[in-house]
Amino acid sequence: MEIARAPRGQRRKDLNSTKSQGTGVGDATGPVEKLGQSAVSAATAEQIERAAHLLHAGALIAFPTETVYGLGADARNADAVRRIFAAKGRPAEHPVIVHLASADLMPRWARSIGAGAEALAQAFWPGPLTLILPRASTVLDVVTGGQDSVGLRVPGHPVAQTLLARLLDLGGDGIAAPSANRFGRISATNARHVADEFGDAVAMVLDGGSSRHGIESTIVDLSSGEPALLRPGAITIEALGRVLGSALRLPSSQSPRASGTLASHYAPQTAARLIASHELIHALSTLTKPVARIAVLARSVAKPLEFSGSWIDAPRESAAYAQELYANLRTLDTRGADEIWIETPPDGPDWVAVNDRLRRATHRSL
Ligand code: TXA
Ligand code: MG
Repeated sequence: MEIARAPRGQRRKDLNSTKSQGTGVGDATGPVEKLGQSAVSAATAEQIERAAHLLHAGALIAFPTETVYGLGADARNADAVRRIFAAKGRPAEHPVIVHLASADLMPRWARSIGAGAEALAQAFWPGPLTLILPRASTVLDVVTGGQDSVGLRVPGHPVAQTLLARLLDLGGDGIAAPSANRFGRISATNARHVADEFGDAVAMVLDGGSSRHGIESTIVDLSSGEPALLRPGAITIEALGRVLGSALRLPSSQSPRASGTLASHYAPQTAARLIASHELIHALSTLTKPVARIAVLARSVAKPLEFSGSWIDAPRESAAYAQELYANLRTLDTRGADEIWIETPPDGPDWVAVNDRLRRATHRSL
């Protein structure tokens, strides 16, 4: 089968532009930096090559994508994929997404690819969209969580693309990768955050700067019946509906398991709650505990002059807000506060994914 790939020159050019993705550790570091115990490497062509060989040999590699960082293993190697679960502390029955170099590889992983899947792949790949399709019989159970479906995504980040292309050259046709965070915690959007999460459980962290979208991919289930949205993301439900020509179903109890759909997920360790804009100032002025015990993620509310606790002014626009969200929550989580107060963002189509993550970040199960 012919695999469509960007010519090498093009890929090299893309690589040079990764810094525009943000201000990750790679902006300041040399080829290899020890952070905690994980080796963080600037994503040069040589280091990506090394990462591809490590993956091929069964090691875990963390790598940048345009959504969040992934913790990757060769998707055809059951032992390697099992190591992902051990490193994350994630329950074994949760499926992981398989990342592909190109949509042309879909038939190796899915036994049927309908017109809807073709149309969505054509419209949004490479990009922040995961498609759940009926699995091919050769897909490992440890990848699908024993379900009859498989999640596929062609990521758009140039480092991820080059890594996938190099692995393909070595004979590997997919990287199984959940988000590079411990189970239930905030996803990592830069290399330093990955290193903070995993210590030496990861052979290598490829540093490609801060993730452009900052929240996980939109997930659409096309494995049975009508297409259904399993997880909102940067690609809106309206945009999906336009390509499919019909509206999507919203998740139901019949939907396949997805850990990102658990009520409490993506959560900081500090208790966090949402507070409407108009209530935030009032709540601050009637605080009963020392102000230093409260950390605030504001968006439109200005910091009161007398407030001396931790305060972050988040971007007002939804894409920029999402891009910084997890880094902001991580920062506030380290401030020793009793609670994180988050100003509730607006409603509206652009805010659906952010509001979904904030609901889960603020949900405490008993
Ligand atoms: O943006 C993303 O999707 C990132 C980057 C690294 O690609 N990955 C990510 O993976 O967020 P993870 O494992 O943290 O979340 C993927 C979600 C999980 O909730 C998982 O249960 C679901 O996708 N998923 C994967 N395969 C599935 C399948 N066959 N059926 C239903 N859900 C599936
Ligand atoms: Mg995750």
